[in-house]
Amino acid sequence: MKLRGLAVLLVLSLLVSSCTQDRVLLTAQLDNRLEFLISQNSPDGTMEYYILDQEDDYANIPQDPKNPLTAAKVELGKMLFFDSGLAQDAVKNSGLGTYSCATCHIPEAGFKPGGFQGIADGGIGYGIDGDNRRRNTEYEESELDVQSARPLTMVNVGYVTNTFWNGQFGATEENVGTEDVWDNDPATARNHLGFEGIETQNFAGLIDHRIQISKPLLDQLGYTPLFDEVFADVPVEDRYTTMTGSLAFSAYIRTIISNRAPFQDWLKGDKEAMTFEEKEGAVLFFGKALCTNCHYKKNLGSLEFHALGVKDMYQRSGGAFDAFPTDKRNLGRGGFTLKEEDNFKFKVPGIYNSEETPFFFHGASVEGLEDLIDYKDLAQTENPNVPQSLISDKFEVLNLTDEEKANLVKFLRYSLTDPDLVRYKPDAVLSGACIPNNDEQSRIDLGCN
Ligand code: HEC
Ligand code: HEC
Repeated sequence: MKLRGLAVLLVLSLLVSSCTQDRVLLTAQLDNRLEFLISQNSPDGTMEYYILDQEDDYANIPQDPKNPLTAAKVELGKMLFFDSGLAQDAVKNSGLGTYSCATCHIPEAGFKPGGFQGIADGGIGYGIDGDNRRRNTEYEESELDVQSARPLTMVNVGYVTNTFWNGQFGATEENVGTEDVWDNDPATARNHLGFEGIETQNFAGLIDHRIQISKPLLDQLGYTPLFDEVFADVPVEDRYTTMTGSLAFSAYIRTIISNRAPFQDWLKGDKEAMTFEEKEGAVLFFGKALCTNCHYKKNLGSLEFHALGVKDMYQRSGGAFDAFPTDKRNLGRGGFTLKEEDNFKFKVPGIYNSEETPFFFHGASVEGLEDLIDYKDLAQTENPNVPQSLISDKFEVLNLTDEEKANLVKFLRYSLTDPDLVRYKPDAVLSGACIPNNDEQSRIDLGCN
C-alpha cells in the first residue's frame, strides 16, 4: 500500500514538473512569437515603438511646438481640468460652479464619463465613478451640455494629432488638404490658428462646455499668479483668456499616459507582467485577429477613418439626450470633409483602459468587451443607414473560437489597463470645490460634505 502510494506520488510529481517545464518552454516561445509579431506590425519595425513616454518626460511627450510642455503649465492645467469653480458660464443659476472637464472625463472611468453619455452643465449627481449622473430637471433637454457621441478618452490623447471621432480639429497631419471646409463651422475655423488638434479643440471646447477663463474669475479663485508664472511671455492683455487656458488644459492632458499597464512592463522586459492567456490574446491582436490593420499607433489606435457600421447614439434603445438622426456627428469623417466617400467613417480610437466603462464605440452601442469582440469577429453592419457595401474592407470576418475571444478580452482587460490613473488627479483645486463635480448630489456621492 505504502509503496504504491509513493510510486503514484513519484509519477505525479514527475508529471507536474515536466508540465511546468513545458509551460516555461511554451511561455518563452510565446514571448518570442509576440515580440516577432509586434515588430512586424509596428510602424518603424521595432517592438520598442510601442513603449509609451513617462508622464514627466516633458522633452519627449508629443507636443505642439506652439505649446511646449513645462512642469508649471502641466500642474496648472491639472487643477483647471478638475475645477468646477470655472463653471461660470452655466445657462441656469443652479448649474453655476457645478461641473468641470472631468465631469465627462473621469480618471476612475478611464477618463470617459461613467455613463454612456457625458452631462456637464445641467447634470446632477455622480454615483460611483460617475455612473449615476442625470438631468437636473430645471434644464430642458436642449439646454444640457451633452453630445450625441460617447466622449473619447484622455488616456494617451497626446498621441492623437487630429481630435474628435471625425478628426476635425488640428491644422496638421490628416487635416492637411481639408482647409476649404474649415470655415463651414466656427469651431473648425480655429484650425486656421495653426495649432495641433488638442490645442485647437480646447479653444472651442472651453466655450462649448461653458467654462470661463477671465481675469476677474482667476483673481477670485487665486489662479492669476500661476497664469503670470506660466504665461510670463504673453502680453498681459492676452494672458488670462480662453486661449492661454486652453494651452494649459492641453499641456496637462498630453501627460495622461498609461505607461503602467502590464503590456508596457512586458515591452520593457518584464516577461512575467502578463499571463499566458493574455500573451495568447496579444498574439491574436498583433496577428490572426487583424486588429493591427487599424489599431497600430502608439496608443493602439490610429488616425485612419473606417466604417464599422456601429449604431449612432440616437439609435440606442432607451434613447439619449439631444441625439437625433440629422446630427452631422453620425456621418463621421464625412460630416467634416463633406465628401460622400468619407461618410460613416470614424477615427480608430486608442484602446488602453477602455474597459473602465462598458460603453464602446461612438454611439455607445455595444456594452462589454465580450460583445465588442463578438462584433469585431462578425464584421457585420448593424446600422441601417450603413449598408455592408460601405463597411471598411480592412474589417474582415474572423471566425475566432470561444477560447481565442476570451484571450483577446484578457489582453484588453488586463494587459492594456494602467491600474493607477488616479495619479493624474490633483489633490485639490484652488476654488476648493468638490472634484470633479460640485452640485449638491455629487457632493454627497463623492463624500465632500
Ligand atoms: C459634456 C461632456 C464633456 C465635457 C464637459 C468635456 N468633454 Fe471632452 N469630449 C466630449 C465628447 C462627447 C467628445 C467626443 C466628441 C466627438 O468626437 O464628437 C470629447 C472629446 C474630447 C477630446 C478629443 C479626444 C480625441 O481623441 O479626439 C479632447 C482633447 C477633450 N474632449 C478635452 C476636453 C477638455 C479639455 C474639456 C474641458 C474644457 C472637456 N473635454 C470637457 C465630452 C465632454
Ligand atoms: C477596419 C479597422 C479596424 C479593425 C480591423 C479593428 N478595429 Fe477596433 N475600431 C475601429 C474603429 C474605426 C473604431 C471606432 C468605431 C466607431 O465608434 O464608429 C474601433 C473601436 C474599437 C474599440 C472601442 C474603443 C472605444 O473607445 O469605444 C475597441 C476596444 C477596439 N476597436 C478593439 C479592436 C480589436 C480588439 C480588434 C481586433 C479584433 C479591432 N478593434 C479591429 C477600427 C478597427
